[in-house]
Amino acid sequence: METCEPNLLWFSAVAVKKKKRIAVIPGDGIGKEVTVEAVKVMGATGAPLELTHFDWSADRYLQDGTTLPADGFQMLARDFDAILCGALGDPRVPSNIHAKEILLGMRFKMDLYANVRPVRLLDASLCPLKGVEPADVDFVIIRENTEGVYMDMGGAFKRGTADEVATQEDISTRKGVERVIRFAFELAKTQRRKKVLMADKSNVMTYAGGLWQRVFKQVGEEYPGIERQHMFVDALCLHMVREPRQFDVIVTNNMFGDIITDLAAALQGGLGVAPSGNIHPGRTSMFEPVHGSAPPFAGKNIANPVGAILSAAMMLEFFGLNAEAERINAAVLKSVRQKKSTQDIGGTLGTREVGDWIAGHV
Ligand code: NAD
Ligand code: IPM
Ligand code: MN
Repeated sequence: METCEPNLLWFSAVAVKKKKRIAVIPGDGIGKEVTVEAVKVMGATGAPLELTHFDWSADRYLQDGTTLPADGFQMLARDFDAILCGALGDPRVPSNIHAKEILLGMRFKMDLYANVRPVRLLDASLCPLKGVEPADVDFVIIRENTEGVYMDMGGAFKRGTADEVATQEDISTRKGVERVIRFAFELAKTQRRKKVLMADKSNVMTYAGGLWQRVFKQVGEEYPGIERQHMFVDALCLHMVREPRQFDVIVTNNMFGDIITDLAAALQGGLGVAPSGNIHPGRTSMFEPVHGSAPPFAGKNIANPVGAILSAAMMLEFFGLNAEAERINAAVLKSVRQKKSTQDIGGTLGTREVGDWIAGHV
């Protein structure tokens, strides 16, 4: 018999009986295909949702130059409870300007400071490591989402000459570091996890690392029941592959978080199955798979929709619709274990067929 994983309670929200308004931004490439399936599966739960689709994407940008309307972020924050996004990025827009404005725009301008990226192995067959079982890979990475090198501060001097100089600033603010570290401890408390590990490169990046170290210690002291750990981010990569069992909650900066969540996705079966939430507690937050638009996969009905479907389940939990979220998680687990899945995780079905199967089992 299939077993269902327990409800993870990401956000300790309480359901309010009112239709939840969701802005859906499928975006580019496989983002469009996986979002259709996530919407289908959410619909099958019968959750009280009201969906509005936005066509912000490379297609729209190439048509009329719109990335998103001038009041786009205010409108999203005012008129919606959450956003479900597919992926943004298209080789026809080499500057990636639309993705930057839409995706990074939501993260930065809506101040979605905690990027929550769970890492859970659904079936042993999905892990590239030997002898690793689902119980061995169950942790969550909290990536700071509004600062770091992503602030796009820097410049180029004597560009195009032999004397060219390029700088790219890495910004950490006291407030930014403190709130994301506190978020990590709060999440550990809610999920009854035992450890929070902060990863940095404070042996080299001494100023930023010093700030992260001090704040981690200070905030951590407020949570005496939770163990504090530290690793340099390079060593963390090694340990994640050699001994993934030891991790519970990991908190780190924006760039390190970006890199280690792709590595962590590999432990759970690849980018096709990794979900995420871009959260500011109490505000309109955004949910999306960790993967991008995978241009070579686009339009072929081969992309795995599970990352998007699990992101939708995280969104329902964010609303406090825990029972509906749990039904999605259980149906996904069944589909993966019964190989009712796409090729990347050992199945033979297409994107739509996986979505249909999961929707039929929620
Ligand atoms: P990607 O995540 O799109 O794809 C990398 C590889 O991962 C793919 O070639 C494929 O092998 C695998 N993969 C990803 N999603 C999959 C799925 N659903 N099912 C099966 N396999 C899957 O990363 P990339 O190729 O580096 O980037 C492509 C574009 O997407 C770029 O423009 C990039 O900037 C953008 N991007 C956007 C986001 C986002 O919107 N959040 C995230 C990452 C990359
Ligand atoms: C991610 C992506 C984005 C990031 C890119 C597309 C800007 O890689 O969501 O992980 O670097 O944050
Ligand atoms: Mn990434």
